[in-house]
Amino acid sequence: MMRYAHIVGWGCYLPNRLVTNDELSTMVDTTDEWIFQRTGIRTRHIAAAHETTATLAFEAAARALTVADLNPSQVELIIVATSTPEYMFPSTACKVQDYLGASRAGAFDLSAACSGFVYALQMASQSIATGAVRNAVVIGSETMSRVIDWSDRGTCVLFGDGAGAVVLKGSSVPGGVMATTLRSDGSGADLLSLPALYHNPVPIAGAEYSSNGHHKNIIDMDGRQVYRFATNVIASSIQDVLKKCELTADDIALIIPHQANTRIIEAAARKLKLPMEKFYMNVEHNGNTSAASIPLALCDAVSEGRLRPDDNIVFVGFGGGLTWAASIVKWDVTPPEISFVDHEWKRVRYIMARGRSRLRRWQRRVEANMVRSSGNNKEPGN
Ligand code: COA
Repeated sequence: MMRYAHIVGWGCYLPNRLVTNDELSTMVDTTDEWIFQRTGIRTRHIAAAHETTATLAFEAAARALTVADLNPSQVELIIVATSTPEYMFPSTACKVQDYLGASRAGAFDLSAACSGFVYALQMASQSIATGAVRNAVVIGSETMSRVIDWSDRGTCVLFGDGAGAVVLKGSSVPGGVMATTLRSDGSGADLLSLPALYHNPVPIAGAEYSSNGHHKNIIDMDGRQVYRFATNVIASSIQDVLKKCELTADDIALIIPHQANTRIIEAAARKLKLPMEKFYMNVEHNGNTSAASIPLALCDAVSEGRLRPDDNIVFVGFGGGLTWAASIVKWDVTPPEISFVDHEWKRVRYIMARGRSRLRRWQRRVEANMVRSSGNNKEPGN
């Protein structure tokens, strides 16, 4: 039985455009010093007009599949954790499935805000553990820049865009995703929210809305309360998941937290009596990329050589919902050498996948026209 879900591939994508704190200070009343001191953030990446949550997710997933040496046609499940889908449906995951040409994969989006990646990892690893699928691509992808009020200095300095992905593969060898704890508290829904529709008629009690009473589809946050919530749940969920695995903090090589804010992690580290070196941080460069932040940090940790085979690592996420989650993963791979030619050759198959997709769309249209012209177009009820 292939009941252990191992991480065998990882990949990330950040848009080219980098926005510094100084640039933000030309847009709102803020300074590089204020932002860095309160959050640890110096820069964030912002998606170009032609980029979407799905294209970012595709780039990350394609890179992860290259590392895993897995053909897209073999992928059985794609989960995209995101709070910034382009559509309620089709899901971002379905778009990624199409871009990848993952013709045998089931695909869906998962909504758990900044905890989304850890939630999705758990869903995918359990699907592997039960034998429902043999592998899965788990992606966190966000275009936060599209849901920010760029005139609100309290939120616009915090967030950034990006995507990170991992490939999970079933194995009979113990390891991979070892234990997870998932938690939520909907009574805190108003502390951090993002309405899905512009004219949603049912406001969340406590959340602030525009003067005409309508939700705007931008982020609404009570920074202080979220700060307090986050420092508490990081510590408790790490302790929880360690207990599940019968491990102690000494057994953990690296904790990769959701990258919201350096001060939050410092406070959590103090609570856990752990040194900051035990926590991997890259919020300085990327800002808060919500569900994408953990896999983005994982990619950087791997490329900096911070993970060795047999290391136990912890992912810990927290955010809107309220939601929080932690996972212990045994890291058991060494990054493979990928030649330029191999990398480029693998890109060709995605061009072919887009061609096949276009062909299918065209074929559907031709078939529909043929049915119409043959007079066989009776609508139900006609
Ligand atoms: N630049 C300059 N001043 C700013 C500012 C900015 N970007 N944003 C807010 N301020 C001002 C406020 O207007 C306020 O001014 P006032 O005292 O004149 O009213 C002052 O700074 C203090 O505001 P406050 O909101 O109390 O600051 P804070 O110390 O709580 O820091 C956060 C604000 C957002 C950095 C902090 O609350 C935080 O990190 N919260 C968690 C947010 C988070 O990580 N969310 C995502 C979780 S997934």
